[in-house]
Amino acid sequence: MLHPSRHPIRLRINGTPHDLEVESWTPLLDLLRDHLDLTGTKKGCDHGQCGACTVLVDGVRVLSCLTLAVMRDGSEVTTVEGLAQGDRLHPLQQAFIEHDAFQCGYCTPGQLCSAVGLANEGQAKSLDDVRELMSGNLCRCGAYAQIAQAVAQVVLGPEPPKSEVVQRAWIAGTTVNARAKLGPA
Ligand code: FES
Ligand code: FES
Repeated sequence: MLHPSRHPIRLRINGTPHDLEVESWTPLLDLLRDHLDLTGTKKGCDHGQCGACTVLVDGVRVLSCLTLAVMRDGSEVTTVEGLAQGDRLHPLQQAFIEHDAFQCGYCTPGQLCSAVGLANEGQAKSLDDVRELMSGNLCRCGAYAQIAQAVAQVVLGPEPPKSEVVQRAWIAGTTVNARAKLGPA
């Protein structure tokens, strides 16, 4: 018999159906990491501030640390593990590699899922829009300029305004090459 605090739910996670029993207070983040071993999704602040835990629920980006699993019964969940198709990386994953859009990589799963959600929303029309709409995802390594460039390449097309990216990278002090291109301060 089911314990009164446990609830049966069904989630489709990265294409695979899962019948689960969860406590009413179990966050989706803990369900993914601790019960299903999907540790690609990261726990940063655990209270909705950093975006490291971002996943997609029915194609919409959500903070899984603030989402009770029981409330998403019947949903389709996509984590970073579900973005690639076999050996073929998701275009955003490929763009992150091409643009060197990470250092330690801790924020990267959340950045990638957030960027997929941003693309699904269809609101971003410029590089500044990308920056604004990705602003809920923090990167302690400060790879923001490269992240914005990678996301813009996929969401806006192959030629985001590079000069603006270079300028901001230099201001943030993150890109040696950009500094060299602009000359001494
Ligand atoms: S761990 Fe969820 S927002 Fe930081
Ligand atoms: S790459 Fe290290 S926190 Fe973003």
